[in-house]
Amino acid sequence: MLNFKMTPKKAYIHTFGCQMNMHDSEKMAGILLNEGYTLTDAPQDADIIVFNTCSIRQKAEQKFRSELGRTKSLKKEKPFLRIAVAGCIAQQQGRGIIKNNPQVDYVFGPQNLQRLGDMIRAGGPGVLTGDIPVGDSTLREISDSDLPVLRKDAIRAWVSIMYGCNNFCSYCVVPYTRGREKSRPAGSIYEEIRKLASAGFKEVTLLGQNVNSYKSEIGFGGLLRQIDAIEGIERIRFVTSHPRDFSEDLIECIKELPKVCEHIHLPLQSGSSRILKGMNRGYTYEDYMRKADKLIKKIPGIAITTDIITGFPSETVDDHASTMMALRAVEFDGIFAFKFSSRPGTKAAVMDEKVPDSVKSQRLAEILELQDEITLKKNKALEGTMQEVLIEGASKTDKGKITGRTRTNKIVNFSGNKVSPGQIADVSIVKAMRHSLVGIDSQREEELMFKDKDFR
Ligand code: 5AD
Ligand code: SF4
Repeated sequence: MLNFKMTPKKAYIHTFGCQMNMHDSEKMAGILLNEGYTLTDAPQDADIIVFNTCSIRQKAEQKFRSELGRTKSLKKEKPFLRIAVAGCIAQQQGRGIIKNNPQVDYVFGPQNLQRLGDMIRAGGPGVLTGDIPVGDSTLREISDSDLPVLRKDAIRAWVSIMYGCNNFCSYCVVPYTRGREKSRPAGSIYEEIRKLASAGFKEVTLLGQNVNSYKSEIGFGGLLRQIDAIEGIERIRFVTSHPRDFSEDLIECIKELPKVCEHIHLPLQSGSSRILKGMNRGYTYEDYMRKADKLIKKIPGIAITTDIITGFPSETVDDHASTMMALRAVEFDGIFAFKFSSRPGTKAAVMDEKVPDSVKSQRLAEILELQDEITLKKNKALEGTMQEVLIEGASKTDKGKITGRTRTNKIVNFSGNKVSPGQIADVSIVKAMRHSLVGIDSQREEELMFKDKDFR
C-alpha cells in the first residue's frame, strides 16, 4: 500500500541588517509556521524563500542583490518555489523589484509584514505579484501581541516598542523605509513581556529607532518601571537611544531600577559639531559630552557604546581629528563604525564635497585601530572584578566553557558548575581580551581553592 505522508513545506528566511529586521524575521517565521511551514537553513530545499532586506548602506543592498540573482536558477528548477522580498529595500523599490526580477512573487515593506500569511493563502503561483500594495503604512496594526513570533533564543527576547523614525538624519533612509514614528501602547508591550516571562525568558531588549521619544500615557520611564516589576524577567535592555532626547529620567531609571542593565548605546556619529549639524542630529559635541559625563558620574561602571560615520560629505582632516579625540575622551566600551554611504532620496546624497572612498577607508581604519586599544583597556580594567553573568549556553569559541553576558553586555567565557541557559552566575574575571572576557564561576573558584589547600 502506498503511504502518502504530507511533508511540511519548508521556508528559508535570509535576514540582512539590524536587530529590528532580525526581530521582524522572527515575526515572519511565526506567520510561516502558522501557515504550515517549517524553517530550513538550505535555500535549495525551500518552498518559499524570504529575503528580509536592509537599505541602510549600499553594501547590504549589494549583498541582497547577488543573493537574489542566485534564486533565478532555483526558480527555473522548481517553478512552484515562492520568492518574497520584504524589509526596507522592498518598501523603497516596490514593484520595481518584480519588474527587474521576474522570479519574485511577493514584495512587502516592514509595515506590511503581518500580511505575509494572507498573501501566501490568496495566491496561486505568481498570481499575487501585481496586486500587493507596497508602502501602505496605514495597514500597520500597532498590536504586535496578536502576531505569532518564532523566536531564535529561549532566554533573550526582542520586543518592538515603536516603529519608524521622525528624525530625518540627513544620511539615513530609515524614515523613508519604516515610515513615521509610532509608539505601541504600553499595555500591549506589558502583556507581551508578561507572557515572555511566563514562558521562561529572562531578558528583554526593547526595540525602537529612538526609544527616548517613546510616547504613551506613561512615557519611556514609566514603561521601564512597569517592566521592571514583572516577575521572572531579570534584565532589561533597550536600543537605540538618541543623544538629543536622552533625559535625566532615563539616567534615574538605569540607576534605580534593578533590572535595567548598565549599558547604553548612544550613537555619536561624529565628534565635530559642524558635521553633526550637517547630519541634522540636533546636538553638538559638547551637548553629547555633557550627557555622557552625567551618565558616567551617576552610574559608575556603565558601558557606553556608539556608532560613528566616517567620511560624511565635507568632513575635513580636523573633523576626523575631532572624532578621534571624542573616542579618547569618552572611552567607549565598543563602537560600530561605518564609511558614509550615499543613500538615494536622503539629503546627504545630494550634498557637495563628497569624501573619496580611499580617504573614508583610511579614516575608518584609524578609528577602528584606536577603538581596539580603548576596548582592550576598558576590558582589562575588569580583570579581578566579579561580574553577574546571564548564561546563554556552551561556548562556541572556547570548548568546554560556558558563555554568557555581563550586565554591561560583554561576552564572558568561563568554567563553572552552572550550565543551564538562563541561570545567573557570579563570575570572577581572570583575563580580558578585546572581544570577550575569560572568567571562572565564583562557586567553582571556591571549590578549587579548597581542593588546592587540601592538596598542599
Ligand atoms: N552611511 C553610513 N552609515 C549609516 N548609518 C545610517 N545611515 C548610514 C549611511 N548612509 C549608520 C549610523 C546609524 C547606524 C544604525 O547606521 O551610524 O546609527
Ligand atoms: Fe536614521 Fe537618525 Fe532615525 Fe537613527 S535617528 S533611524 S540614524 S534618521
